[in-house]
Amino acid sequence: MQHAIAILDSGVGGLTVAKEVMRQLPREKIIYFGDTARTPYGPRSSDQVRVFTEQIVDYLIQFEPKMIVIACNTATAAALTYISEKLTIPVIGVIHPGARAAISATKTGDVGVIGTVGTIGSGAYTAALKELSPYVNVISEACPLLVPLVEQGLFRAAETRNIVERSLENIRDTSIDCLILGCTHYPFLMDSIQEVMGDKVKLISSADETAREISTILYEKGQLAKSDESPVHQFFCSGDGEIFKKIANEWLGEQIRRTPVVWQVSTFEE
Ligand code: DGL
Repeated sequence: MQHAIAILDSGVGGLTVAKEVMRQLPREKIIYFGDTARTPYGPRSSDQVRVFTEQIVDYLIQFEPKMIVIACNTATAAALTYISEKLTIPVIGVIHPGARAAISATKTGDVGVIGTVGTIGSGAYTAALKELSPYVNVISEACPLLVPLVEQGLFRAAETRNIVERSLENIRDTSIDCLILGCTHYPFLMDSIQEVMGDKVKLISSADETAREISTILYEKGQLAKSDESPVHQFFCSGDGEIFKKIANEWLGEQIRRTPVVWQVSTFEE
């Protein structure tokens, strides 16, 4: 049996990380869980997000993954420490990789972060950035209207552009030279965000750096997949399977076109 990398998110956002993992590590099997029935996590209390994250992790553990990736910033802020202390396999989140990527990209030391109310309120990005570079100046803004747009697949709708513009109103005229997309849903809106911020601001998605971290950990543990056979990825969601599948197919495109994929809906009782 090939042990998979398990990736979870409140919905479709973690697919931005899954796509990068598929690109960098094409031999690896992925088991993905999107909690689309209970998205968004952003406005929920951190206790509730921790409970939901633990439920998903307990579900994923039945597949005996070699690693868990919490591909949701809100869940990383609320539950990464708790979940990693509970398990013996490696558990990683997306906040440290995002912070690392920003520190290597910024020239001025003025770094912007956008995320959910939960992520920004937790201060987890500021802490992670300052741990790496104490003099960095962090400007954060919560953008609660963006996740629901992505979950509905409205990436290119005209109203989306307006909502992105309003959400970025406070951060667009600051001194930042890079902006962390501190929510894994936001890369779906990359084009609109870049347009609003202008091309002097570099957008940072934690997906690349997270995939690199996964690769490093598996390499060091001697656990990188070796088979040349195509892995069979499994995708679970807790809500409407059709919308999820449509968004996943559109986003992952090439990465899953030639790969067998299993889709399943699986709900939790609250
Ligand atoms: N992708 C999650 C994150 O990175 C989305 C949060 C939500 O469900 O509000 O924070």
